[in-house]
Amino acid sequence: SRYFALIPAAGVGARMSAGCPKQYLPLAGKPMLRHVLDTFAATPEIAHTYVVVSPEDGYIADVLSGASHLFDRISVIYHGGATRHQSVLNGLRAIGGQVGENDWVLVHDAARPGLNGELIGKLVCELRDDPVGGLLALPVVDTLKRGDGERRAQATVSREHLWAAQTPQMFRYALLRRALEQADAVTDEASAIEALGLQPKLVEGSPRNLKVTLPHDVALAELYLKGIA
Ligand code: CTP
Ligand code: MG
Repeated sequence: SRYFALIPAAGVGARMSAGCPKQYLPLAGKPMLRHVLDTFAATPEIAHTYVVVSPEDGYIADVLSGASHLFDRISVIYHGGATRHQSVLNGLRAIGGQVGENDWVLVHDAARPGLNGELIGKLVCELRDDPVGGLLALPVVDTLKRGDGERRAQATVSREHLWAAQTPQMFRYALLRRALEQADAVTDEASAIEALGLQPKLVEGSPRNLKVTLPHDVALAELYLKGIA
């Protein structure tokens, strides 16, 4: 079976509240999304990469223009939805003709520019013979509190066995599509798979693979991308 990448990039970046959707912010010399596309395009295991953008997107054409190394490696799907869940599902429906039932799909956030070929290789290597699939994730390092409505700590939650989910999340096409068709309001692919009673494998990711969400994440992402940290 082959490996495909699907990049949801149809968000508005409300929490970043920049002048444009955050995936198009310049970061260490190129737009955030371009880092992600360059990484997948340069990974030989990946047969093709699909990026899902909003039907009204006015930025992706510029990001791709002049990038001749991406032309036959990346396709754009102008069918983002109201949620990440919907954008991924629209993307999966759109690629049904090009991807086999048993082919693997690596779903990766456009907002995680720190992914590199080494992490993709690690994920693929650990999951290629797995019956379910899985995701990159990081063991939680903080002491966790359950707060009440008044912001009073009610309890300390053990971090033992707790992981923070990252992407890529890698599942076979037919299983992933079925899981997302049946799930309601999930924030990642693994939750939809879990809802079917299956257990996605947790593969240790990296802090470099952070999701750029708030303005202060930009500086840290840039340090990683420039190789300073
Ligand atoms: N995403 C998407 N379609 C949506 C919402 C999100 O494709 N309707 C994508 C984003 O572009 C991003 C990834 O899903 O690559 C993770 O989402 P998030 O970090 O929440 O991005 P935004 O939704 O854009 O940010 P915010 O929630 O702050 O508005
Ligand atoms: Mg969001």
